[in-house]
Amino acid sequence: MNSELEKVVNEIVEQFKVEKEFLCKATQSFVDSMDTGLKHDKSSRDFMPMIPAYVTSIPNGKETGLFLAADLGGTNFRVCSIKLNGDHTFAMEQSKAEIPRDLMKNSTADELFSYLAKKVKAFLCEYHSDVEDEEKLKLGFTFSFPVNQTAINRGTLMRWTKGFDLPDCVDKDVVELLQSNLDKLETNVHVAALANDTVGTLLARAYANNPEETKSNTVIGCIFGTGTNGAYFESLENIPKLDLSTVPKDAAGMVINTEWGSFDNLLQVLPTSVYDEILDSETSNKGFHLFEKRISGMFLGELLRVILIDLFERGLIFQDLYKSRGGSLPHRLSEPWQLSSEVLSYLQIDDSTDLKMSGLIMENVLRLPTNSEERLVIQKITQAVASRAAHLSAIPLAAIVQRVAPTYKDDENDFEVGCDGSVVEFYPGFQANIKEALQLIDPLKGSKKKIHLRIAKDGSGVGAALCAATT
Ligand code: BGC
Repeated sequence: MNSELEKVVNEIVEQFKVEKEFLCKATQSFVDSMDTGLKHDKSSRDFMPMIPAYVTSIPNGKETGLFLAADLGGTNFRVCSIKLNGDHTFAMEQSKAEIPRDLMKNSTADELFSYLAKKVKAFLCEYHSDVEDEEKLKLGFTFSFPVNQTAINRGTLMRWTKGFDLPDCVDKDVVELLQSNLDKLETNVHVAALANDTVGTLLARAYANNPEETKSNTVIGCIFGTGTNGAYFESLENIPKLDLSTVPKDAAGMVINTEWGSFDNLLQVLPTSVYDEILDSETSNKGFHLFEKRISGMFLGELLRVILIDLFERGLIFQDLYKSRGGSLPHRLSEPWQLSSEVLSYLQIDDSTDLKMSGLIMENVLRLPTNSEERLVIQKITQAVASRAAHLSAIPLAAIVQRVAPTYKDDENDFEVGCDGSVVEFYPGFQANIKEALQLIDPLKGSKKKIHLRIAKDGSGVGAALCAATT
């Protein structure tokens, strides 16, 4: 690699390194931010929302019944029916549809929700035409955006994330929007519960987990996919903002949707590079969810792209290509959001001679011819961006485990974290890097207990059904 290019790439890689001292400081800052969010009723950019989910108990695996679940959270809308068997197992039917891009932006709440209601109706016709008319099926609605939730079946959208932008939906009750559109289609469905995907993941993993076998208690449900977020169970006395008259008398705690994507929006501790700033400026929720923008699948590819464009503008890469094209770069490289984290996952582990595999991928996905030096740069940057993401992901996990650990002091079980999402499930090395950072932080100092990451498949479907089951 030519020496100037090598120097610049090493500087960038260095900028994306995360040290132990920083991780420990950020974990403490996360714990403090949790407390601030639990105190303040009004949401603010300055702290995590810490939204009460109105779920006051964690499943024990004995729940039974047939429920529907609908899941809007990113690029897809999923409808499922779940039969809980009451023995930690379930049976599920499901259908999935990609959300048309023009319904994510420049459209209206009504258009989006009428589309969703039609998908629910189509699912019922296909799988449950046998359900008697008088039986209203209960539906748990997983809606994975920040919602100001005021009851198990009520919540208004605070703001969109992950590329959605339908301004007229903000401040509207999303349960009402779905129910009214289902009613228009005369479907026999009652939207009984509203749940964030992380709340669903927590409940679903707790349902599937048999602590006698796994010797661990499920304490966090989280997503590392298109977006990132986590939920956990908090004691009522630690949620000063909660109006206790809205909570059943015998409840001891409540599930909290942290919306940790918005951890440190003021950037008091998070590492920030000029590339993070450019990326934020391209999003429709600028200044918000800055933690998510350093971690989740929607942003990893864009960070890589922004860095490559910078190296090009500094005259360090793609110069021959630029000239041979008469003064332009392929539009898939010059336009934002064209690189998915799935593509990065192949670049990350390419060990072919001269990184020829990466060459083919860049040709296919971005129509971008590369030389071997450029491919090496791409791989180094990809690895730096992804390992920073995974290391940062350990911060909320360490903070929450540290916070809930005293509740389990009379119990010998380990802690387990139920995770879902394409990045944590499929990105090579992501889980290993989270674990490495967890070890550096060491949130359970002096204890023999371990923290296990366990993939909780279909968390949002089964979890929403479990929420509906509590109503
Ligand atoms: C949303 C969360 C969601 C997470 C994972 C974030 O962008 O704000 O509500 O849980 O993505 O889907």
